[in-house]
Amino acid sequence: MSEPIRVAAVEDIDEGEALLLQPEVTGASEPISVFHGEDGGFYALDDECTHETASLADGLVDGDTVECPKHSAAFCLKDGRALCLPATRDARTHRVEVRDGEIYLHPGVPAQA
Ligand code: FES
Repeated sequence: MSEPIRVAAVEDIDEGEALLLQPEVTGASEPISVFHGEDGGFYALDDECTHETASLADGLVDGDTVECPKHSAAFCLKDGRALCLPATRDARTHRVEVRDGEIYLHPGVPAQA
């Protein structure tokens, strides 16, 4: 299991926004985006849409979902489920925890684990 890394303070990511983290920062093989859902929660998904090439960090957050900016597939921020076409593969999640106002990411650890 990877060590959690501090990625930001809670106030650094506005509700409905995302912070894109490159592999050099997380040690993961792919970029990861940390989202501040409109439900107030923080979630992390692999940044690249599972349909084609698009950054989910540039997507539209709606409640606890994010809509891909390219062809509008939607993903659940909580469990990565692909909620509509054209995406048919779920997004990979990463565990996020908030402690003392700081956001910690567990790269490679699924959110539901
Ligand atoms: S690239 Fe995301 S829906 Fe097509």
